[in-house]
Amino acid sequence: MRKPIIAANWKMYKTISEGKDFITNFLPKVKDVYDKEIVIAMPYTLLFVAGEMLKGTNVKLSAENMYVEEKGAFTGEISPLMLKDVGCSYVILGHSERRKYFKETDDFVNQKMLVALKYGIIPIVCIGETLEEREQGKTLEVIGKQIKGSLSKLSTLDAEKIVIAYEPVWAIGTGKNATPQQAQEVHEFIRKKYAEIYGSIPSEKVRILYGGSIKPENFKEIMAQKDVDGGLVGGASLEVESFYKLVMYDKI
Ligand code: PGA
Repeated sequence: MRKPIIAANWKMYKTISEGKDFITNFLPKVKDVYDKEIVIAMPYTLLFVAGEMLKGTNVKLSAENMYVEEKGAFTGEISPLMLKDVGCSYVILGHSERRKYFKETDDFVNQKMLVALKYGIIPIVCIGETLEEREQGKTLEVIGKQIKGSLSKLSTLDAEKIVIAYEPVWAIGTGKNATPQQAQEVHEFIRKKYAEIYGSIPSEKVRILYGGSIKPENFKEIMAQKDVDGGLVGGASLEVESFYKLVMYDKI
């Protein structure tokens, strides 16, 4: 059984006081939730204070990006060692916004993934097709290429540990989520491709999250799909009440 992960991606939202308010109100509501992993990815400026607040709780801290070197003359970058130091258990890598605005390639994402694992940080690696690619019928081809490029060179053990997020670019922040069937089709394909590279055990164990306009109203149906193991949530994770409802998708 794969334990579901419900992960917030705050992107470039929330000042320190806003982040603290969220955590203060959110923690008591989810304190008894142990049947899912709850993760919050937040801006670097919040990580230290949030890390202190989340210590010893059932909510895990994540960064939204990182660089590949431990230290050095890389002005403006943050290293895996620094993320570990501040208490991160997860890091989102290769989000489509990073691929689009900061020109991150599959190869660079792959390097980051391997480095994160070396520091004991679990990478949540994002892949997904654009609208144009979907309309041209190239979805599976694009996903296949991203899997090969971003997710290669893992040991069998690490292949079980990492988290994959399927985020169709056309569904991110648009209010237009993939249908549960569209999500399942791609998730099943990812698992199949993954099995071709790493074998059947890692592919049965690896968790594949869906992301893109998840809301409390559509999440339950998406989660009912066989190969969907959780969600990576942007907009609907910014308010305590809606993120709480997503965590409790199967109860309320
Ligand atoms: P969204 O973002 O839920 O606002 O569509 C998801 C993401 O980019 O991770």
